[in-house]
Amino acid sequence: MISSSRLAPILITFPTTFAPMIQIAVFASGTGTNAQQIIQHFKGHPAIRIALIVGNKPGAGVFEVAARENIPALLIEKEKFLQGNAYTDELKALGIHFIVLAGFLWKLPKALVNAFSHKIINIHPALLPKFGGKGMYGNYVHEAVIAAGEKESGITIHFVDEWYDHGHIIFQASCAIADNETPATLAQKIHALEHTNYPMVIEKTVQTVKT
Ligand code: GRF
Repeated sequence: MISSSRLAPILITFPTTFAPMIQIAVFASGTGTNAQQIIQHFKGHPAIRIALIVGNKPGAGVFEVAARENIPALLIEKEKFLQGNAYTDELKALGIHFIVLAGFLWKLPKALVNAFSHKIINIHPALLPKFGGKGMYGNYVHEAVIAAGEKESGITIHFVDEWYDHGHIIFQASCAIADNETPATLAQKIHALEHTNYPMVIEKTVQTVKT
Protein backbone atom coordinates (compact mmCIF):
# COMPACT_ATOMS: atom_id res chain seq x y z
CA MET A 1 0.00 0.00 0.00
CA ILE A 2 1.28 3.46 -0.85
CA SER A 3 0.67 6.10 1.75
CA SER A 4 -0.70 9.40 0.51
CA SER A 5 2.44 11.18 1.73
CA ARG A 6 4.46 9.30 -0.93
CA LEU A 7 2.23 10.35 -3.84
CA ALA A 8 3.46 13.16 -6.06
CA PRO A 9 1.25 16.23 -5.75
CA ILE A 10 -1.14 16.67 -8.66
CA LEU A 11 -1.38 20.19 -9.98
CA ILE A 12 -4.81 21.02 -11.33
CA THR A 13 -5.15 24.35 -13.11
CA PHE A 14 -8.29 26.01 -14.38
CA PRO A 15 -8.26 28.71 -17.07
CA THR A 16 -9.40 32.01 -15.63
CA THR A 17 -11.23 32.98 -18.85
CA PHE A 18 -12.72 30.90 -21.63
CA ALA A 19 -11.94 32.44 -25.01
CA PRO A 20 -14.76 31.64 -27.45
CA MET A 21 -13.86 30.19 -30.85
CA ILE A 22 -13.40 32.73 -33.65
CA GLN A 23 -16.05 31.79 -36.21
CA ILE A 24 -15.53 32.38 -39.93
CA ALA A 25 -18.03 32.28 -42.80
CA VAL A 26 -16.46 31.57 -46.21
CA PHE A 27 -18.30 33.12 -49.19
CA ALA A 28 -17.69 31.59 -52.63
CA SER A 29 -19.38 31.44 -56.02
CA GLY A 30 -17.33 28.86 -57.87
CA THR A 31 -15.48 25.59 -57.53
CA GLY A 32 -14.22 26.42 -54.08
CA THR A 33 -10.63 25.20 -54.26
CA ASN A 34 -9.58 28.02 -51.92
CA ALA A 35 -12.50 27.27 -49.60
CA GLN A 36 -11.30 23.65 -49.49
CA GLN A 37 -7.76 24.70 -48.54
CA ILE A 38 -9.07 27.05 -45.86
CA ILE A 39 -11.29 24.34 -44.36
CA GLN A 40 -8.37 21.92 -44.38
CA HIS A 41 -6.07 24.41 -42.68
CA PHE A 42 -8.45 25.10 -39.78
CA LYS A 43 -9.51 21.49 -39.10
CA GLY A 44 -8.95 20.91 -35.39
CA HIS A 45 -7.70 24.46 -34.84
CA PRO A 46 -7.97 25.34 -31.15
CA ALA A 47 -9.23 28.90 -31.66
CA ILE A 48 -10.67 29.28 -35.15
CA ARG A 49 -13.54 27.45 -36.83
CA ILE A 50 -14.97 27.57 -40.35
CA ALA A 51 -18.58 27.70 -39.24
CA LEU A 52 -20.45 28.40 -42.46
CA ILE A 53 -20.12 28.28 -46.24
CA VAL A 54 -22.15 30.91 -48.08
CA GLY A 55 -22.79 30.70 -51.82
CA ASN A 56 -24.98 32.44 -54.39
CA LYS A 57 -25.09 29.79 -57.13
CA PRO A 58 -27.12 26.61 -56.66
CA GLY A 59 -25.00 23.64 -57.69
CA ALA A 60 -21.67 25.48 -57.32
CA GLY A 61 -18.72 23.27 -56.42
CA VAL A 62 -18.30 25.01 -53.11
CA PHE A 63 -21.56 23.46 -51.86
CA GLU A 64 -20.14 20.00 -52.59
CA VAL A 65 -17.08 20.97 -50.55
CA ALA A 66 -19.35 22.06 -47.67
CA ALA A 67 -21.35 18.81 -47.78
CA ARG A 68 -18.21 16.66 -47.94
CA GLU A 69 -16.65 18.52 -45.02
CA ASN A 70 -19.87 18.57 -42.99
CA ILE A 71 -20.00 22.34 -42.74
CA PRO A 72 -23.36 24.15 -42.72
CA ALA A 73 -24.08 25.95 -45.99
CA LEU A 74 -26.32 28.87 -46.86
CA LEU A 75 -27.58 29.69 -50.36
CA ILE A 76 -28.33 33.40 -50.49
CA GLU A 77 -30.85 35.22 -52.70
CA LYS A 78 -29.84 38.26 -54.71
CA GLU A 79 -32.77 40.51 -53.80
CA LYS A 80 -32.47 39.91 -50.08
CA PHE A 81 -28.68 40.29 -50.26
CA LEU A 82 -28.68 43.56 -52.22
CA GLN A 83 -31.75 45.29 -50.87
CA GLY A 84 -32.34 43.93 -47.40
CA ASN A 85 -29.96 43.69 -44.51
CA ALA A 86 -27.62 41.56 -46.64
CA TYR A 87 -28.05 38.60 -44.26
CA THR A 88 -26.29 40.55 -41.51
CA ASP A 89 -28.82 39.44 -38.87
CA GLU A 90 -28.53 35.78 -39.86
CA LEU A 91 -24.72 35.88 -39.80
CA LYS A 92 -24.66 37.62 -36.41
CA ALA A 93 -27.26 35.17 -35.03
CA LEU A 94 -24.98 32.29 -36.09
CA GLY A 95 -22.11 33.92 -34.18
CA ILE A 96 -20.01 34.72 -37.24
CA HIS A 97 -17.08 37.03 -36.43
CA PHE A 98 -15.28 37.20 -39.79
CA ILE A 99 -16.19 36.79 -43.46
CA VAL A 100 -13.64 35.41 -45.88
CA LEU A 101 -14.31 35.81 -49.61
CA ALA A 102 -12.89 33.06 -51.81
CA GLY A 103 -14.08 33.77 -55.33
CA PHE A 104 -17.37 35.44 -54.36
CA LEU A 105 -18.56 37.45 -57.35
CA TRP A 106 -21.29 39.74 -55.99
CA LYS A 107 -20.29 43.16 -54.69
CA LEU A 108 -20.90 43.33 -50.95
CA PRO A 109 -23.65 45.76 -49.91
CA LYS A 110 -22.85 48.61 -47.57
CA ALA A 111 -25.00 47.11 -44.80
CA LEU A 112 -22.79 44.02 -44.64
CA VAL A 113 -19.50 45.90 -44.98
CA ASN A 114 -20.48 48.27 -42.17
CA ALA A 115 -21.64 45.45 -39.91
CA PHE A 116 -18.33 43.61 -40.39
CA SER A 117 -15.96 46.55 -40.72
CA HIS A 118 -12.35 45.30 -41.01
CA LYS A 119 -13.67 41.77 -40.56
CA ILE A 120 -14.12 40.87 -44.23
CA ILE A 121 -11.09 39.55 -46.10
CA ASN A 122 -10.83 39.04 -49.87
CA ILE A 123 -8.26 37.51 -52.20
CA HIS A 124 -7.66 38.98 -55.65
CA PRO A 125 -5.66 37.12 -58.33
CA ALA A 126 -3.36 40.04 -59.28
CA LEU A 127 -1.14 42.65 -57.68
CA LEU A 128 -3.56 45.41 -56.68
CA PRO A 129 -4.01 48.30 -57.25
CA LYS A 130 -3.32 47.12 -60.81
CA PHE A 131 -5.87 44.91 -62.57
CA GLY A 132 -8.70 45.33 -60.08
CA GLY A 133 -12.21 46.74 -60.18
CA LYS A 134 -15.52 45.77 -61.76
CA GLY A 135 -15.25 43.00 -64.33
CA MET A 136 -11.74 42.04 -63.24
CA TYR A 137 -12.17 38.46 -62.10
CA GLY A 138 -11.07 34.99 -63.17
CA ASN A 139 -9.43 34.73 -66.57
CA TYR A 140 -10.24 38.37 -67.42
CA VAL A 141 -7.56 39.36 -64.92
CA HIS A 142 -4.91 37.03 -66.34
CA GLU A 143 -5.70 38.03 -69.92
CA ALA A 144 -5.35 41.71 -69.03
CA VAL A 145 -2.07 41.15 -67.17
CA ILE A 146 -0.52 39.28 -70.13
CA ALA A 147 -1.88 41.76 -72.69
CA ALA A 148 -0.28 44.61 -70.72
CA GLY A 149 3.12 42.93 -71.05
CA GLU A 150 3.62 42.66 -67.28
CA LYS A 151 6.72 40.81 -66.11
CA GLU A 152 5.07 39.62 -62.91
CA SER A 153 1.66 39.01 -61.39
CA GLY A 154 0.55 37.64 -58.05
CA ILE A 155 -2.08 37.69 -55.34
CA THR A 156 -3.42 40.38 -53.06
CA ILE A 157 -5.20 39.68 -49.78
CA HIS A 158 -7.04 42.73 -48.48
CA PHE A 159 -9.81 43.96 -46.22
CA VAL A 160 -13.05 44.66 -48.02
CA ASP A 161 -14.66 48.05 -48.16
CA GLU A 162 -17.60 49.18 -50.26
CA TRP A 163 -15.57 49.50 -53.46
CA TYR A 164 -14.32 46.63 -55.64
CA ASP A 165 -10.78 45.46 -54.80
CA HIS A 166 -10.07 48.62 -52.86
CA GLY A 167 -9.64 48.00 -49.11
CA HIS A 168 -6.43 48.01 -47.05
CA ILE A 169 -3.86 45.50 -48.36
CA ILE A 170 -2.82 42.84 -45.83
CA PHE A 171 -0.50 40.68 -47.95
CA GLN A 172 0.87 40.26 -51.47
CA ALA A 173 2.94 37.54 -53.13
CA SER A 174 4.19 37.56 -56.70
CA CYS A 175 5.21 35.19 -59.49
CA ALA A 176 7.14 35.77 -62.72
CA ILE A 177 5.39 35.78 -66.08
CA ALA A 178 7.15 33.65 -68.69
CA ASP A 179 7.49 34.78 -72.32
CA ASN A 180 5.09 32.05 -73.45
CA GLU A 181 2.66 32.52 -70.52
CA THR A 182 -1.05 31.95 -71.25
CA PRO A 183 -4.04 32.88 -69.06
CA ALA A 184 -4.39 29.17 -68.22
CA THR A 185 -0.77 28.70 -67.11
CA LEU A 186 -0.85 31.96 -65.16
CA ALA A 187 -4.10 30.88 -63.47
CA GLN A 188 -2.33 27.73 -62.27
CA LYS A 189 0.57 29.72 -60.79
CA ILE A 190 -1.86 32.10 -59.09
CA HIS A 191 -3.96 29.29 -57.65
CA ALA A 192 -0.83 27.70 -56.19
CA LEU A 193 0.13 31.01 -54.53
CA GLU A 194 -3.42 31.38 -53.18
CA HIS A 195 -3.59 27.89 -51.74
CA THR A 196 -0.20 28.27 -50.05
CA ASN A 197 -0.77 31.69 -48.55
CA TYR A 198 -4.46 32.47 -48.02
CA PRO A 199 -5.19 30.14 -45.06
CA MET A 200 -2.09 31.28 -43.17
CA VAL A 201 -2.81 34.97 -43.78
CA ILE A 202 -6.42 34.50 -42.63
CA GLU A 203 -5.20 32.80 -39.47
CA LYS A 204 -2.81 35.64 -38.61
CA THR A 205 -5.32 38.36 -39.48
CA VAL A 206 -8.27 37.08 -37.46
CA GLN A 207 -6.05 36.56 -34.46
CA THR A 208 -4.76 40.13 -34.70
CA VAL A 209 -8.06 41.94 -35.23
CA LYS A 210 -10.22 41.93 -32.11
CA THR A 211 -13.62 40.20 -32.48
C1 GRF B 1 -9.46 32.79 -56.98
O1 GRF B 1 -8.55 32.87 -58.03
C2 GRF B 1 -9.54 34.11 -56.25
O2 GRF B 1 -8.40 34.90 -56.37
C3 GRF B 1 -10.66 34.82 -56.92
O3 GRF B 1 -11.56 33.79 -57.28
C4 GRF B 1 -10.87 32.58 -57.49
C5 GRF B 1 -11.60 31.48 -56.79
O4 GRF B 1 -11.10 30.24 -57.14
N1 GRF B 1 -11.19 35.85 -56.08
P1 GRF B 1 -11.57 28.89 -56.43
O5 GRF B 1 -13.07 28.76 -56.65
O6 GRF B 1 -11.24 28.99 -54.99
O7 GRF B 1 -10.80 27.84 -57.12
